[in-house]
Amino acid sequence: MNTEIWTNCRAATLQPEWGEPYGLVDDAALVVQGEALAWVGPHAALPQAYVDQCTQRHDAGGALVTPGLIDCHTHLVYGGDRAHEFELRLQGASYEDIARAGGGIASTVKATREASARQLHTQSLPRLKALAGEGVTTVEIKSGYGLALAHERKTLEVARGLANGLPVDVRTTFLGAHAVPPEFAGRTDDYLQEVLQMLPALHALGLVDAVDAFCERIAFSTAQTQRIFEAAQSLGLPVKLHAEQLSDSGGAQLAARFGALSCDHLEWLSADGAAAMARAGSVAVLLPGAFYFLRETRLPPIAVLREHGVPMAVSTDCNPGSSPCTSLLLMLNMACTLFRLTPEEALAGVTRHAAQALGLKDRGMLAAGLRADFVLWDLNHPAQLSYAIGANPRLQTVHKGQAV
Ligand code: NIG
Ligand code: FE
Repeated sequence: MNTEIWTNCRAATLQPEWGEPYGLVDDAALVVQGEALAWVGPHAALPQAYVDQCTQRHDAGGALVTPGLIDCHTHLVYGGDRAHEFELRLQGASYEDIARAGGGIASTVKATREASARQLHTQSLPRLKALAGEGVTTVEIKSGYGLALAHERKTLEVARGLANGLPVDVRTTFLGAHAVPPEFAGRTDDYLQEVLQMLPALHALGLVDAVDAFCERIAFSTAQTQRIFEAAQSLGLPVKLHAEQLSDSGGAQLAARFGALSCDHLEWLSADGAAAMARAGSVAVLLPGAFYFLRETRLPPIAVLREHGVPMAVSTDCNPGSSPCTSLLLMLNMACTLFRLTPEEALAGVTRHAAQALGLKDRGMLAAGLRADFVLWDLNHPAQLSYAIGANPRLQTVHKGQAV
Protein backbone atom coordinates (compact mmCIF):
# COMPACT_ATOMS: atom_id res chain seq x y z
CA MET A 1 0.00 0.00 0.00
CA ASN A 2 1.10 3.56 -0.65
CA THR A 3 2.24 5.68 2.29
CA GLU A 4 2.13 9.38 1.52
CA ILE A 5 3.32 12.02 3.95
CA TRP A 6 2.14 15.61 3.91
CA THR A 7 4.23 18.12 5.87
CA ASN A 8 4.81 21.88 6.15
CA CYS A 9 1.24 22.70 7.08
CA ARG A 10 -0.94 23.89 9.93
CA ALA A 11 -3.77 21.44 10.55
CA ALA A 12 -7.22 22.35 11.88
CA THR A 13 -8.02 18.78 12.85
CA LEU A 14 -11.39 19.59 14.51
CA GLN A 15 -10.44 16.91 17.03
CA PRO A 16 -11.57 18.05 20.47
CA GLU A 17 -8.92 15.72 21.95
CA TRP A 18 -6.12 18.13 20.98
CA GLY A 19 -7.51 20.61 23.50
CA GLU A 20 -6.83 23.55 21.15
CA PRO A 21 -9.42 25.69 19.37
CA TYR A 22 -10.18 24.04 16.00
CA GLY A 23 -7.99 21.12 17.16
CA LEU A 24 -5.12 23.16 15.69
CA VAL A 25 -1.74 21.52 15.22
CA ASP A 26 1.04 23.86 14.10
CA ASP A 27 3.70 22.37 11.88
CA ALA A 28 1.68 19.21 11.37
CA ALA A 29 2.25 16.02 9.42
CA LEU A 30 -0.45 13.83 7.90
CA VAL A 31 0.15 10.27 6.80
CA VAL A 32 -2.16 8.81 4.15
CA GLN A 33 -2.36 5.09 3.49
CA GLY A 34 -4.80 4.04 0.79
CA GLU A 35 -7.97 6.08 1.21
CA ALA A 36 -7.49 6.78 4.90
CA LEU A 37 -5.41 8.84 7.26
CA ALA A 38 -2.97 6.61 9.14
CA TRP A 39 -1.53 9.29 11.39
CA VAL A 40 -2.05 13.02 12.14
CA GLY A 41 -0.02 15.11 14.58
CA PRO A 42 2.94 17.42 15.10
CA HIS A 43 5.66 16.80 12.53
CA ALA A 44 8.20 16.48 15.32
CA ALA A 45 6.31 13.44 16.66
CA LEU A 46 5.93 11.65 13.31
CA PRO A 47 6.88 7.98 13.91
CA GLN A 48 9.98 6.94 11.99
CA ALA A 49 8.22 3.81 10.72
CA TYR A 50 6.03 5.96 8.43
CA VAL A 51 9.09 7.83 7.14
CA ASP A 52 10.71 4.47 6.33
CA GLN A 53 7.62 3.22 4.46
CA CYS A 54 6.94 6.52 2.68
CA THR A 55 6.21 6.17 -1.03
CA GLN A 56 5.53 9.86 -1.70
CA ARG A 57 6.18 13.11 0.13
CA HIS A 58 4.07 16.23 -0.31
CA ASP A 59 5.18 19.71 0.75
CA ALA A 60 2.02 21.66 1.66
CA GLY A 61 3.92 24.93 1.36
CA GLY A 62 2.78 26.26 4.71
CA ALA A 63 -0.92 25.86 3.88
CA LEU A 64 -3.73 25.58 6.38
CA VAL A 65 -5.29 22.10 6.18
CA THR A 66 -8.86 21.30 7.19
CA PRO A 67 -11.03 18.24 6.77
CA GLY A 68 -12.88 18.15 3.45
CA LEU A 69 -16.00 20.27 3.86
CA ILE A 70 -19.39 18.54 4.08
CA ASP A 71 -22.58 20.13 2.78
CA CYS A 72 -25.15 18.07 4.67
CA HIS A 73 -28.41 19.55 3.32
CA THR A 74 -29.00 20.34 -0.35
CA HIS A 75 -31.71 20.01 -2.95
CA LEU A 76 -29.28 20.69 -5.78
CA VAL A 77 -30.82 18.43 -8.41
CA TYR A 78 -33.73 20.40 -9.87
CA GLY A 79 -34.99 21.79 -13.14
CA GLY A 80 -35.47 25.47 -13.98
CA ASP A 81 -35.16 28.33 -11.52
CA ARG A 82 -37.43 30.62 -9.53
CA ALA A 83 -36.09 34.05 -10.43
CA HIS A 84 -39.63 35.18 -11.24
CA GLU A 85 -40.80 34.33 -7.72
CA PHE A 86 -37.84 36.27 -6.40
CA GLU A 87 -39.27 39.27 -8.26
CA LEU A 88 -42.73 38.62 -6.80
CA ARG A 89 -41.31 38.41 -3.29
CA LEU A 90 -39.50 41.70 -3.84
CA GLN A 91 -42.91 43.18 -4.70
CA GLY A 92 -44.28 41.99 -1.37
CA ALA A 93 -45.53 38.41 -1.83
CA SER A 94 -44.35 36.01 0.88
CA TYR A 95 -42.84 32.54 0.37
CA GLU A 96 -46.02 31.05 1.87
CA ASP A 97 -48.33 33.21 -0.34
CA ILE A 98 -46.53 31.94 -3.43
CA ALA A 99 -46.68 28.32 -2.25
CA ARG A 100 -50.41 28.55 -1.49
CA ALA A 101 -51.06 30.08 -4.93
CA GLY A 102 -49.57 26.98 -6.59
CA GLY A 103 -46.08 28.37 -7.16
CA GLY A 104 -43.09 27.64 -4.97
CA ILE A 105 -42.02 24.02 -4.80
CA ALA A 106 -44.80 23.09 -7.27
CA SER A 107 -43.23 25.21 -10.01
CA THR A 108 -39.90 23.45 -9.58
CA VAL A 109 -41.73 20.11 -9.61
CA LYS A 110 -43.12 20.98 -13.03
CA ALA A 111 -39.69 21.93 -14.41
CA THR A 112 -38.04 18.89 -12.85
CA ARG A 113 -40.63 16.50 -14.26
CA GLU A 114 -40.26 18.05 -17.70
CA ALA A 115 -36.47 17.61 -17.68
CA SER A 116 -34.92 14.37 -18.93
CA ALA A 117 -32.33 12.71 -16.72
CA ARG A 118 -29.67 14.08 -19.05
CA GLN A 119 -31.02 17.63 -18.86
CA LEU A 120 -31.31 17.40 -15.10
CA HIS A 121 -27.72 16.23 -14.92
CA THR A 122 -26.53 19.08 -17.15
CA GLN A 123 -28.42 21.69 -15.15
CA SER A 124 -27.33 20.36 -11.76
CA LEU A 125 -23.66 19.59 -12.43
CA PRO A 126 -22.42 23.22 -12.22
CA ARG A 127 -23.91 23.42 -8.73
CA LEU A 128 -22.02 20.37 -7.51
CA LYS A 129 -18.86 21.61 -9.25
CA ALA A 130 -19.17 24.97 -7.51
CA LEU A 131 -19.38 23.27 -4.12
CA ALA A 132 -16.47 20.95 -4.92
CA GLY A 133 -14.47 23.96 -6.10
CA GLU A 134 -14.65 25.34 -2.58
CA GLY A 135 -13.33 22.20 -0.94
CA VAL A 136 -16.57 20.32 -0.35
CA THR A 137 -15.86 16.57 -0.49
CA THR A 138 -19.22 15.20 0.68
CA VAL A 139 -22.64 16.50 -0.37
CA GLU A 140 -26.08 15.33 0.63
CA ILE A 141 -28.69 15.69 -2.11
CA LYS A 142 -32.42 15.32 -1.49
CA SER A 143 -35.13 14.32 -3.92
CA GLY A 144 -38.46 16.08 -3.52
CA TYR A 145 -39.03 17.86 -6.82
CA GLY A 146 -40.25 14.74 -8.60
CA LEU A 147 -43.05 13.71 -6.22
CA ALA A 148 -43.93 10.66 -8.36
CA LEU A 149 -42.00 7.41 -8.44
CA ALA A 150 -40.42 7.82 -11.88
CA HIS A 151 -39.35 11.39 -11.21
CA GLU A 152 -38.10 10.78 -7.69
CA ARG A 153 -36.11 7.87 -9.08
CA LYS A 154 -34.75 10.06 -11.89
CA THR A 155 -33.70 12.70 -9.36
CA LEU A 156 -31.94 10.24 -7.07
CA GLU A 157 -30.20 8.49 -9.97
CA VAL A 158 -29.02 11.83 -11.36
CA ALA A 159 -27.81 12.79 -7.88
CA ARG A 160 -25.87 9.55 -7.51
CA GLY A 161 -24.27 9.96 -10.95
CA LEU A 162 -23.39 13.61 -10.54
CA ALA A 163 -20.18 12.99 -8.58
CA ASN A 164 -18.60 10.84 -11.32
CA GLY A 165 -15.15 12.23 -11.99
CA LEU A 166 -15.36 14.84 -9.22
CA PRO A 167 -13.52 14.65 -5.88
CA VAL A 168 -16.77 14.45 -3.97
CA ASP A 169 -19.14 11.84 -2.52
CA VAL A 170 -22.88 12.18 -2.80
CA ARG A 171 -25.31 10.87 -0.19
CA THR A 172 -28.96 10.78 -1.22
CA THR A 173 -32.01 11.47 0.89
CA PHE A 174 -35.59 10.64 -0.12
CA LEU A 175 -37.80 13.70 0.41
CA GLY A 176 -41.00 12.47 -1.26
CA ALA A 177 -42.92 14.33 1.46
CA HIS A 178 -41.67 17.73 0.36
CA ALA A 179 -44.98 19.03 -1.03
CA VAL A 180 -48.27 17.68 -2.33
CA PRO A 181 -48.07 17.53 -6.14
CA PRO A 182 -50.85 19.20 -8.16
CA GLU A 183 -52.52 15.90 -9.17
CA PHE A 184 -53.13 15.26 -5.44
CA ALA A 185 -54.26 18.81 -4.58
CA GLY A 186 -56.51 18.70 -1.52
CA ARG A 187 -55.77 14.97 -1.04
CA THR A 188 -52.69 15.03 1.13
CA ASP A 189 -53.42 11.66 2.74
CA ASP A 190 -53.75 10.01 -0.66
CA TYR A 191 -50.40 11.44 -1.65
CA LEU A 192 -48.97 10.18 1.62
CA GLN A 193 -49.96 6.66 0.53
CA GLU A 194 -47.97 7.24 -2.66
CA VAL A 195 -44.94 8.33 -0.63
CA LEU A 196 -45.25 5.21 1.50
CA GLN A 197 -45.14 3.12 -1.68
CA MET A 198 -42.30 5.05 -3.31
CA LEU A 199 -40.02 4.67 -0.30
CA PRO A 200 -39.57 0.87 -0.31
CA ALA A 201 -39.34 0.84 -4.11
CA LEU A 202 -36.54 3.43 -4.16
CA HIS A 203 -34.86 1.76 -1.21
CA ALA A 204 -34.91 -1.57 -3.07
CA LEU A 205 -33.04 0.17 -5.89
CA GLY A 206 -30.38 1.20 -3.38
CA LEU A 207 -31.04 4.90 -3.89
CA VAL A 208 -31.91 5.98 -0.35
CA ASP A 209 -29.41 6.75 2.42
CA ALA A 210 -31.90 8.62 4.63
CA VAL A 211 -35.50 9.85 4.70
CA ASP A 212 -36.58 13.47 5.18
CA ALA A 213 -39.92 15.31 5.21
CA PHE A 214 -41.13 18.92 5.26
CA CYS A 215 -43.18 19.18 8.45
CA GLU A 216 -45.00 22.51 8.18
CA ARG A 217 -48.47 23.98 7.88
CA ILE A 218 -47.96 24.38 4.11
CA ALA A 219 -46.68 20.81 3.80
CA PHE A 220 -47.11 17.76 6.09
CA SER A 221 -48.46 17.56 9.64
CA THR A 222 -46.63 15.82 12.47
CA ALA A 223 -49.11 12.92 12.25
CA GLN A 224 -48.39 12.51 8.53
CA THR A 225 -44.65 12.88 9.10
CA GLN A 226 -44.84 10.17 11.75
CA ARG A 227 -46.23 7.69 9.20
CA ILE A 228 -43.24 8.36 6.96
CA PHE A 229 -40.81 7.96 9.84
CA GLU A 230 -42.41 4.65 10.81
CA ALA A 231 -41.97 3.41 7.26
CA ALA A 232 -38.32 4.53 7.24
CA GLN A 233 -37.72 2.87 10.57
CA SER A 234 -39.19 -0.41 9.38
CA LEU A 235 -36.69 -0.34 6.50
CA GLY A 236 -33.82 0.48 8.86
CA LEU A 237 -33.31 3.91 7.29
CA PRO A 238 -32.30 6.96 9.37
CA VAL A 239 -34.54 10.02 9.34
CA LYS A 240 -34.06 13.79 9.35
CA LEU A 241 -36.59 16.60 9.19
CA HIS A 242 -37.25 20.08 7.80
CA ALA A 243 -38.59 21.28 11.13
CA GLU A 244 -39.85 24.55 12.61
CA GLN A 245 -38.83 26.63 9.57
CA LEU A 246 -41.95 28.80 9.33
CA SER A 247 -43.77 27.86 12.55
CA ASP A 248 -43.36 25.67 15.64
CA SER A 249 -45.14 22.45 14.67
CA GLY A 250 -43.42 20.20 17.22
CA GLY A 251 -41.57 18.47 14.40
CA ALA A 252 -38.31 18.41 16.36
CA GLN A 253 -39.88 16.46 19.23
CA LEU A 254 -41.35 13.97 16.77
CA ALA A 255 -38.04 13.59 14.93
CA ALA A 256 -36.23 13.11 18.24
CA ARG A 257 -38.56 10.24 19.11
CA PHE A 258 -37.30 8.52 15.96
CA GLY A 259 -33.66 9.22 16.82
CA ALA A 260 -33.36 11.61 13.88
CA LEU A 261 -29.87 12.28 12.58
CA SER A 262 -30.80 15.95 12.30
CA CYS A 263 -33.51 18.58 12.44
CA ASP A 264 -32.96 21.34 9.92
CA HIS A 265 -33.87 25.08 9.72
CA LEU A 266 -35.27 25.44 13.29
CA GLU A 267 -35.98 29.20 13.36
CA TRP A 268 -39.13 28.45 15.42
CA LEU A 269 -37.62 25.67 17.58
CA SER A 270 -38.87 25.73 21.19
CA ALA A 271 -36.78 25.00 24.29
CA ASP A 272 -38.66 21.67 24.59
CA GLY A 273 -37.74 20.83 21.03
CA ALA A 274 -34.08 21.61 21.70
CA ALA A 275 -34.11 19.46 24.84
CA ALA A 276 -35.65 16.57 22.91
CA MET A 277 -32.99 16.90 20.22
CA ALA A 278 -30.25 16.88 22.84
CA ARG A 279 -31.62 13.68 24.38
CA ALA A 280 -31.85 12.02 20.97
CA GLY A 281 -28.41 13.18 19.83
CA SER A 282 -29.90 14.92 16.78
CA VAL A 283 -27.81 17.58 15.05
CA ALA A 284 -29.29 21.06 14.47
CA VAL A 285 -28.63 21.90 10.82
CA LEU A 286 -28.63 25.70 10.44
CA LEU A 287 -29.35 27.15 7.03
CA PRO A 288 -28.39 30.82 6.98
CA GLY A 289 -28.85 31.06 3.20
CA ALA A 290 -32.58 30.36 3.50
CA PHE A 291 -32.87 32.72 6.48
CA TYR A 292 -31.19 35.44 4.44
CA PHE A 293 -32.95 34.82 1.12
CA LEU A 294 -36.44 34.68 2.68
CA ARG A 295 -35.53 37.72 4.80
CA GLU A 296 -36.54 35.90 7.97
CA THR A 297 -36.26 37.90 11.15
CA ARG A 298 -36.66 35.16 13.71
CA LEU A 299 -33.31 33.61 14.55
CA PRO A 300 -32.85 29.94 15.37
CA PRO A 301 -32.37 29.70 19.16
CA ILE A 302 -28.59 29.35 19.10
CA ALA A 303 -28.13 30.07 22.81
CA VAL A 304 -30.68 27.39 23.72
CA LEU A 305 -29.00 24.88 21.39
CA ARG A 306 -25.64 25.65 22.99
CA GLU A 307 -27.11 25.37 26.47
CA HIS A 308 -28.47 21.89 25.68
CA GLY A 309 -25.26 20.85 23.95
CA VAL A 310 -26.98 20.18 20.63
CA PRO A 311 -24.30 19.90 17.91
CA MET A 312 -24.81 22.52 15.21
CA ALA A 313 -24.13 21.97 11.51
CA VAL A 314 -24.22 24.60 8.76
CA SER A 315 -25.30 23.94 5.19
CA THR A 316 -26.22 25.72 1.96
CA ASP A 317 -29.75 24.22 1.59
CA CYS A 318 -28.96 24.75 -2.12
CA ASN A 319 -32.42 24.90 -3.76
CA PRO A 320 -34.21 27.16 -6.23
CA GLY A 321 -36.81 28.58 -3.85
CA SER A 322 -35.34 29.48 -0.49
CA SER A 323 -31.56 29.34 -0.99
CA PRO A 324 -30.19 29.42 -4.53
CA CYS A 325 -26.71 29.18 -3.11
CA THR A 326 -23.70 27.10 -4.12
CA SER A 327 -21.15 28.51 -1.69
CA LEU A 328 -20.61 26.73 1.60
CA LEU A 329 -17.85 29.23 2.43
CA LEU A 330 -20.39 32.06 2.19
CA MET A 331 -22.58 30.08 4.62
CA LEU A 332 -19.71 30.06 7.12
CA ASN A 333 -19.67 33.84 7.01
CA MET A 334 -23.47 34.11 7.22
CA ALA A 335 -23.63 31.63 10.11
CA CYS A 336 -21.33 33.96 12.02
CA THR A 337 -22.78 37.33 10.98
CA LEU A 338 -26.48 36.38 10.98
CA PHE A 339 -26.62 33.63 13.62
CA ARG A 340 -23.63 34.73 15.74
CA LEU A 341 -21.89 31.39 15.60
CA THR A 342 -18.20 31.59 16.39
CA PRO A 343 -15.94 30.82 13.41
CA GLU A 344 -14.92 27.67 15.28
CA GLU A 345 -18.56 26.57 15.63
CA ALA A 346 -19.15 27.39 11.97
CA LEU A 347 -16.19 25.29 10.81
CA ALA A 348 -17.26 22.37 13.02
CA GLY A 349 -20.68 22.88 11.39
CA VAL A 350 -19.35 22.09 7.93
CA THR A 351 -17.05 19.28 9.06
CA ARG A 352 -17.48 17.27 12.25
CA HIS A 353 -21.11 18.08 12.92
CA ALA A 354 -22.10 17.90 9.26
CA ALA A 355 -20.70 14.36 9.16
CA GLN A 356 -22.78 13.54 12.23
CA ALA A 357 -25.89 14.99 10.56
CA LEU A 358 -25.36 12.41 7.80
CA GLY A 359 -24.58 9.56 10.18
CA LEU A 360 -21.04 9.33 8.75
CA LYS A 361 -18.49 8.30 11.34
CA ASP A 362 -15.58 8.02 8.91
CA ARG A 363 -15.05 11.71 8.16
CA GLY A 364 -15.39 15.28 9.41
CA MET A 365 -12.08 15.45 11.29
CA LEU A 366 -8.41 14.94 10.55
CA ALA A 367 -7.71 11.84 12.60
CA ALA A 368 -6.08 8.45 12.18
CA GLY A 369 -8.52 5.89 10.79
CA LEU A 370 -10.79 8.46 9.13
CA ARG A 371 -11.06 9.11 5.42
CA ALA A 372 -8.21 11.06 3.86
CA ASP A 373 -10.49 13.86 2.67
CA PHE A 374 -8.81 17.19 3.27
CA VAL A 375 -8.30 20.64 1.81
CA LEU A 376 -5.23 22.88 1.60
CA TRP A 377 -6.03 26.57 1.95
CA ASP A 378 -3.96 29.66 1.26
CA LEU A 379 -4.64 30.87 4.81
CA ASN A 380 -2.89 31.12 8.17
CA HIS A 381 -5.79 30.67 10.51
CA PRO A 382 -9.12 28.81 10.26
CA ALA A 383 -11.12 31.87 11.37
CA GLN A 384 -10.23 33.37 7.98
CA LEU A 385 -12.54 30.82 6.32
CA SER A 386 -15.54 32.42 8.02
CA TYR A 387 -14.21 35.97 7.86
CA ALA A 388 -13.94 36.53 4.12
CA ILE A 389 -16.96 37.19 1.91
CA GLY A 390 -16.76 35.82 -1.61
CA ALA A 391 -13.15 34.61 -1.42
CA ASN A 392 -12.05 31.15 -2.42
CA PRO A 393 -8.65 30.46 -0.87
CA ARG A 394 -8.67 26.74 -1.76
CA LEU A 395 -5.32 25.52 -3.04
CA GLN A 396 -5.91 21.81 -3.34
CA THR A 397 -8.35 19.05 -2.43
CA VAL A 398 -7.35 15.55 -1.38
CA HIS A 399 -10.21 13.09 -1.74
CA LYS A 400 -9.91 9.51 -0.52
CA GLY A 401 -6.16 10.04 -0.33
CA GLN A 402 -5.88 11.24 -3.93
CA ALA A 403 -4.51 14.73 -4.50
CA VAL A 404 -6.66 16.44 -7.10
O1 NIG B 1 -35.24 23.72 2.61
N1 NIG B 1 -38.48 24.04 3.22
C1 NIG B 1 -38.62 23.26 2.31
N2 NIG B 1 -37.77 23.00 1.33
C2 NIG B 1 -36.75 23.88 0.86
C3 NIG B 1 -37.26 24.91 -0.07
C4 NIG B 1 -37.84 24.30 -1.26
C5 NIG B 1 -38.25 25.26 -2.31
O2 NIG B 1 -38.75 26.36 -2.04
O3 NIG B 1 -38.07 24.86 -3.48
C6 NIG B 1 -35.98 24.48 2.01
O4 NIG B 1 -36.08 25.67 2.33
FE1 FE C 1 -34.08 22.20 2.63
